[in-house]
Amino acid sequence: MNRLDFAGRTAVVTGGLQGIGDAIVRRLKDSGARVAIWDVGGSPSVDVSDAASVEAATKRTLAELGKIDVLVNNAGIAGKNAPTVEYPVEEWERVLRVNLTGAFLCCRAVAPNMVKAGYGRIVNIASVAGKEGNPNAVAYSASKAGVISLTKSLGKELANSGVLVNCVTPAAAKTAIFDQMSETHIQYMLSKIPMGRFVSVDEIAALVCWLASADCSFSTGAVFDISGGRATY
Ligand SMILES: NC(=O)c1ccc[n+]([C@@H]2O[C@H](COP(=O)([O-])OP(=O)(O)OC[C@H]3O[C@@H](n4cnc5c(N)ncnc54)[C@H](O)[C@@H]3O)[C@@H](O)[C@H]2O)c1
Repeated sequence: MNRLDFAGRTAVVTGGLQGIGDAIVRRLKDSGARVAIWDVGGSPSVDVSDAASVEAATKRTLAELGKIDVLVNNAGIAGKNAPTVEYPVEEWERVLRVNLTGAFLCCRAVAPNMVKAGYGRIVNIASVAGKEGNPNAVAYSASKAGVISLTKSLGKELANSGVLVNCVTPAAAKTAIFDQMSETHIQYMLSKIPMGRFVSVDEIAALVCWLASADCSFSTGAVFDISGGRATY
C-alpha cells in the first residue's frame, strides 16, 4: 500500500463500518489520520438521512477531534431492483433520502467548519450508475447522478476557500450491498465492465484517499472514474 501523508489530519467517513467505507477508514488510519465513523449501525448511531443526527454527530466529532479536514460521503443503499413504472414510491424516497439528501446534509453540516479553517477535502462516493443509468435501478441511478451534480455545484461554490469537493464513480464492488440486488442485476453490471471483473474495495479506497489528501490540489467539482473501462466520459 502506498501511504499518503495524513499526519495531523482528521476525517469523517460515513457508512464506514463495512465494505468500501471500511477500506477507506483503514487506508486513512494507516496513513496517519484520526477517523470518526458515522454509521447507522455504529454506536452512537448516525443516520445521514436525518438532519438532527448529522448535526449532533458534527458537534460530537468536532469536540472529540478538534476539526474535520476530510469528509467522505460514502453511506448508501442500493434499494430494490424493479422496472421504473413499477418502482414503489416509498422505496424511491428512501433511496434518494439516504444517498442524495444524506450527502447534502453532511456537506451542509461540515463544510462551514472547513471553510473557516481554510482547508478541507470532501469526497463523495457516487457510482457509474449515476452516469450510465442502470435499468431496474432508477432510484439508485438517479440518486448517484444527483451526487455528481451536488459535487459540481458545491465544488464551484467553494473553489476559492481551500475546500475541494470531488466524487468517484465506481463500477460494482462485491460487498454486502450485493445482498440488496437481484442476481440478474449483478450479472448485468459485471457484463458491462470491459476489464471483466469487479473493482476491489482497496482499489476504490486508493483513489478516494488521494482525493482526500493535500496532494489533490487543483481538482474540484470533478468526477473521477473507476469503472474498469465502462464509462467513456
Ligand atoms: N459496492 C458497489 O458495487 C458500489 C459501486 C459503486 C458505488 N457504491 C457506493 O459505495 C458506497 C458504499 O457501498 P458498499 O458497497 O460498501 O455498501 P455496504 O452496504 O457494504 O455499506 C454501506 C454502509 O453504509 C451504512 N449506512 C447505510 N445507510 C446509512 C445511513 N442512513 N446513515 C449512516 N450509515 C448508513 C451501512 O450501515 C453500511 O455500513 C455506497 O454509497 C454505494 O452506493 C457501491
